[in-house]
Amino acid sequence: MQTLKVDLGDRSYPIFIGQGLLDQGLISPFIKGKQVLIVTNDTIAPLYLERLQKTLTGQFQVDTVILPDGEQYKNVDQINMIFDALLENRHNRTTTLIALGGGVIGDMTGFAAACYQRGVNFVQVPTTLLSQVDSSVGGKTGVNHPKGKNMIGAFHQPQCVVIDTDVLNTLPEKELSAGMAEVIKYGLIYDEAFLCYLEDHIDGLMGLQSDLLEQAIYRSCAVKAEVVAQDEKEAGIRAWLNLGHTFGHAIEADQGYGEWLHGEAVGAGTMMAADLSCRLGWISSSDVDRIRNILEAANLPVFPPESMGVDTFKDLMLVDKKVVDGSIRLVLLQEVGKAIVTSDFPAELLDQTLSAGKKLGSCC
Ligand code: NAD
Ligand code: GLY
Repeated sequence: MQTLKVDLGDRSYPIFIGQGLLDQGLISPFIKGKQVLIVTNDTIAPLYLERLQKTLTGQFQVDTVILPDGEQYKNVDQINMIFDALLENRHNRTTTLIALGGGVIGDMTGFAAACYQRGVNFVQVPTTLLSQVDSSVGGKTGVNHPKGKNMIGAFHQPQCVVIDTDVLNTLPEKELSAGMAEVIKYGLIYDEAFLCYLEDHIDGLMGLQSDLLEQAIYRSCAVKAEVVAQDEKEAGIRAWLNLGHTFGHAIEADQGYGEWLHGEAVGAGTMMAADLSCRLGWISSSDVDRIRNILEAANLPVFPPESMGVDTFKDLMLVDKKVVDGSIRLVLLQEVGKAIVTSDFPAELLDQTLSAGKKLGSCC
């Protein structure tokens, strides 16, 4: 097992990464009271719920809420289901919520924990690659609104994160690709050496070779922990973690949540960010080819949906948490391994990227 620390003063917490951690009782020392509520969904419950329950039963009052599976259910109705379970089972302010699932369950459980009785503890047990390398770390929690993705939420840090890499064996291939989009992101924004590692090992990673995966998860979490420790509330560098996301969120919202996976939309969005960075003269066309190659090797889409035009994109991109005073701010690449957040780009270059379609990345 490898351990990392997210350094946030008295709210610091560990991330445990390794095989078979689900059964090892790592969570119990992080539970302060006598009650826990495990929040999961109807796909993950039959696979992993009983194993987690076994490590807690006998020590705590263990209640469970099983939500419907899917990004389309990441909304306030499901948060109310969690509150119902907490209230029906008389959970008090010392309760701990445990998120057993991917980013949808993690974000909703964290948000419910942030709100219930003005804030209770929670633990992340992420079960998708995306949630293991990104959403379970850093304390961003929340739900979608029909008019915007993740628009309702709170910063609320977990007590610990337990990453059992074995659970990835049951993950659908598309979900593995979606998670790889976020792994690749860390190389692009922060660590070119890590990008080289991914390029060298992408086949083994996609083949779920456990030593390679553990290393990639460790390095991804290490970058995220470093960034979050510097800028917890996203006043600066944390926004780098949104490379490809402003374009990607527009794709997700236009296509309907759940149609394009979040990570797939981030994949296409990353190509759009690379295309614009190239038009601005910051990265070369061979850098763009390199980015396309690694995304394609991870079986990710590299073009947005054909149905989306410039106006549709812009309307949706204006509903973004990075928008300030009506201007779109984007995370772009100053070079491979270094990102920049800026609204300082000619509008016509953005329009060219938004309308490039299948020519994305081939005209700079
Ligand atoms: P998800 O939670 O929808 O999980 C994907 C699918 O895989 C679901 O059907 C789920 O039931 C299933 N699944 C999960 N683990 C499994 C396993 N081990 N075996 C088999 N099936 C399994 O999607 P996700 O990609 O994990 O998360 C996406 C969400 O994360 C989005 O809502 C996004 O906004 C959010 N997100 C949040 C942050 C953050 O910082 N909080 C960062 C990135 C993404
Ligand atoms: N996934 C972006 C962030 O945590 O800031």
